Amino acid sequence: MIELLLAIIPPALLVILLLYFSPGADDHGHLPSSDIPSQRAIWYIGSASFFMNPSQFLIDSMKRANNSIFSFRIFDSTVVVLRGVTGRNAFFSKGLDFMAGYRLLGSNIYKYTDFHPYGSSDENMASVIATCTRPDVLERLLPLMVEDALQTFEMWGNHGAKNISKSLDEIVFTLAARMTMCREFSEDPKKIRALISIFKRLEDGSDHNALIVPWFPTPARFGRILAGVQLHRMISAVILSRKDRREDDPLQTMIDKGLSPTKTTVLLATMLFAAIGNTGNVITYLLLHLEANPKWKVLVENEARQLYKDSHTFGRDDGKPLFSMNSIETQMPLFDVCISETLRMLFKGPFIRRSVEDMFVDQKHIPRGTYVMFPTADLHDNAAFYSTPQEFNPENFSAGAIQERRRHGTTFVGWGAGRHMCAGKRAAQMLMKVIVILLLSQFDIQIVTDGGEPARRVPEQVENQLFKVCPPKQAVTLRYEVRRQ
Ligand code: HEM
Repeated sequence: MIELLLAIIPPALLVILLLYFSPGADDHGHLPSSDIPSQRAIWYIGSASFFMNPSQFLIDSMKRANNSIFSFRIFDSTVVVLRGVTGRNAFFSKGLDFMAGYRLLGSNIYKYTDFHPYGSSDENMASVIATCTRPDVLERLLPLMVEDALQTFEMWGNHGAKNISKSLDEIVFTLAARMTMCREFSEDPKKIRALISIFKRLEDGSDHNALIVPWFPTPARFGRILAGVQLHRMISAVILSRKDRREDDPLQTMIDKGLSPTKTTVLLATMLFAAIGNTGNVITYLLLHLEANPKWKVLVENEARQLYKDSHTFGRDDGKPLFSMNSIETQMPLFDVCISETLRMLFKGPFIRRSVEDMFVDQKHIPRGTYVMFPTADLHDNAAFYSTPQEFNPENFSAGAIQERRRHGTTFVGWGAGRHMCAGKRAAQMLMKVIVILLLSQFDIQIVTDGGEPARRVPEQVENQLFKVCPPKQAVTLRYEVRRQ
């Protein structure tokens, strides 16, 4: 029997490998009657190296295509990478499907339910996000989030050193859970730690390799399924506990709509993913850029500390700070330009969409149903718009510089552009400001490298995930010492 298997399995594997890597299978996925050059593709998978390292694949392909439009394949789907200003105009115009692209490469949690949170019913995520990021809702949430952040910082003690990504995760998850989920999660540190672990496992089990052979049972994929089940159970338990009482939060909205626990879990997970996906890493990189640019560090510190001080002038009886949305939105102009510059430097990768009608870009025909990508580096790294694109220069976002760039049209897409601007921009800014104001007013901080030296150079991002801001490649430590006010 063993001999029979040994006789069959190796040749079968060889045939499979030959089919996968057969040079004759090179030509799939060309656009019909198109002169758009295409990258090498392999039967079934498409452009295989895309799955190994999508970011590097795109960088190499752009070079090979001489910085003009080109296409490649993901399975049997053709993806056209649009370039430059004409590419930008076509990409951010009407008539492209926003979610289809992200579904092609993204999470599969929706396939375990009978609905998709971006559907057209009132279970649509956009409507839930719109409700939980309404100005009056954010104003009401603000003091609670300040309280959450203060409590977390109190637990840090008087001084110490922490892995920056881990410590920010803890606080970002707490505030984001307050904003997009419910009190029962945000006020329970054990549940927050469980959420962090669940989301890590969901992410680990859904990288691009997982798309090639989705049925292959790797430990990461098991971990992913178990994480989904754990989240479902945690949310179901909270729903049950609300049988005889109500709260005023996103979870309650879903209970009131009569959504099943499964749909509620998918919606809450999607919202939390949107909220946490970029936020922690953006703050990490803001702090790294400030450390490397001491002049800006001092300016942002002073601004945050002044706002904190002012918040006590009209503060509460209990001595806690009192901020209004108006104050944090209008009195942090230096933070605002630093965040825009940080996002400009962070967003170099692509956005993705799917065409819902035929498109013509540079006289080239892109048929309906084709996926299109736009590399944001074509704007953010463009010396025609930003004179020294590799340098951190918040002056790029001074009123004068913005006015000067206006004649070029959209040159900054850190919060998206066109019809799909970030729905959580105000919420994200509030969340980041609460964290930064309280961090800088409670502590003197320093970001240090492995060797304990102040981080004077900003490390590159890990490059294994598209469409999101990734953490730094090397571990970075946040040193802090409580400030004597
Ligand atoms: C620093 C944090 C954040 C950054 C840098 C960011 C950035 C972006 C960008 C660039 C897009 C557009 C993507 C594209 O065009 O393909 C986007 C879309 C979106 N963001 Fe954010 N985001 C952040 C935080 C948040 C938060 C906190 C929420 C929710 C509370 C959120 C909800 C969304 C949603 C729902 C969309 C899709 C909008 C649509 O369907 O048209 N984001 N975000």
